[in-house]
Amino acid sequence: MKQLALGGAALLALAFSARAEQPAPTVSYQRDIVPILEQNCATCHLTGEEAGGMSLVGDAAIGFLVSKPAEGAPAIMRVAPGAPDKSYLVMKLEGTHNDHGGLGARMPFGGAPLNETDMAKIRTWIAQGAKS
Ligand code: HEC
Repeated sequence: MKQLALGGAALLALAFSARAEQPAPTVSYQRDIVPILEQNCATCHLTGEEAGGMSLVGDAAIGFLVSKPAEGAPAIMRVAPGAPDKSYLVMKLEGTHNDHGGLGARMPFGGAPLNETDMAKIRTWIAQGAKS
């Protein structure tokens, strides 16, 4: 029984690693990104008047993010289409913003960092041009 269960786990692991090697599927802003922002960020970034200066609610968020200079580091765009590593949003989520002259805390403020799946979606969305 135990061996069977282990075999199953190994197969599952294989299936997952095979999937990981396929090219990244297209990420949709509405389907993939909006739910991440609304579940983890919009409580604080609601209207755009709060600290950080942007709303991360669905339809508004993209306009506050894409090609908009960061308040905490005006030389860096919050989202630089095609360049996740040059995007302040990614830096703030990965906690590398201070290495790039940024300010403040890692996001989500006071909470656990986003999981790898959500980070991969955000990075892919930006790499694919940060389209709506
Ligand atoms: C508990 C409240 C809170 C939550 C939740 C939160 N933030 Fe923030 N955020 C802040 C505050 C306060 C600031 C301003 C201070 C700073 O930059 O650390 C900020 C600043 C930012 C900035 C910098 C904006 C700029 O132009 O300088 C980004 C980007 C950001 N948040 C993204 C996010 C994302 C993405 C999430 C969700 C994953 C999130 N935040 C969740 C409170 C929060």
